[in-house]
Amino acid sequence: MKKAPLIIGNWKLNPVSQKAAVTLAQATIKACRGTNASIAIAPPFVYLSDVSKKISRSKILLAAQDVSTEPLGAFTGEIAASQLRDLKISYVIIGHSERRARGETDSDVVQKVTQALKNKLTPVVCVGEKERDAKGDFYTTVAKQIKALTAVFGTTDIKKIVIAYEPIWAIGTGKTATVEDVKEMQLFIYSVLTKVFDRKVANSVKLLYGGSVKPHNAKVLHADGGMGGFLVGGASLNATDFAAIVKATE
Ligand code: PGA
Repeated sequence: MKKAPLIIGNWKLNPVSQKAAVTLAQATIKACRGTNASIAIAPPFVYLSDVSKKISRSKILLAAQDVSTEPLGAFTGEIAASQLRDLKISYVIIGHSERRARGETDSDVVQKVTQALKNKLTPVVCVGEKERDAKGDFYTTVAKQIKALTAVFGTTDIKKIVIAYEPIWAIGTGKTATVEDVKEMQLFIYSVLTKVFDRKVANSVKLLYGGSVKPHNAKVLHADGGMGGFLVGGASLNATDFAAIVKATE
């Protein structure tokens, strides 16, 4: 049986105030009422606590946008997985291209996933190429990012990791990958996983697509792209649009 789709709204560095964050959370709860999908929102760290209170009696879960590679200690500015767990956070986005652009490496990603798993947070690891080339070298980029995970995490752990395919050229640009691009990448990621794990284990890894997912393209991307849900950026800042994307997966 297919698992419920998962849709995560990544608010990135928005909105401007705590009040606006709570208002957006409230609007998201209202707009998503009655849907069966699994839903999470990822506000900036400073709003997690207030948003957590707001959503506590709804079906919406919380995600963090990053986590430290370190468990605790003298690491100024970092946030530990155990601290996120304490706030009842469910998911943590790791290796987003906007963080990789600031120097995050595959090895950092592995350490962050390790911290997340130790603290019972579900890591959502972002992979994706900067651009597409005619020779298909972009597949190598994605394979390398996934192999960094499969080299370290075994059967039990890999099943707990969500992989979000987010081609960088599609993020915030309005240039969505085509359904064929998404479907091919879904098959490719499973083929990379089945080189290491048996088919059942590989198939149990949840895959998401992210990159300019909007209400107008969500339905076809979901129905024919083969992924298990979406990681949504810009459109998650508008509760009506976000809910329309959620509903498009049902
Ligand atoms: P976008 O962002 O939906 O604004 O393209 C997606 C993401 O970065 O997760």
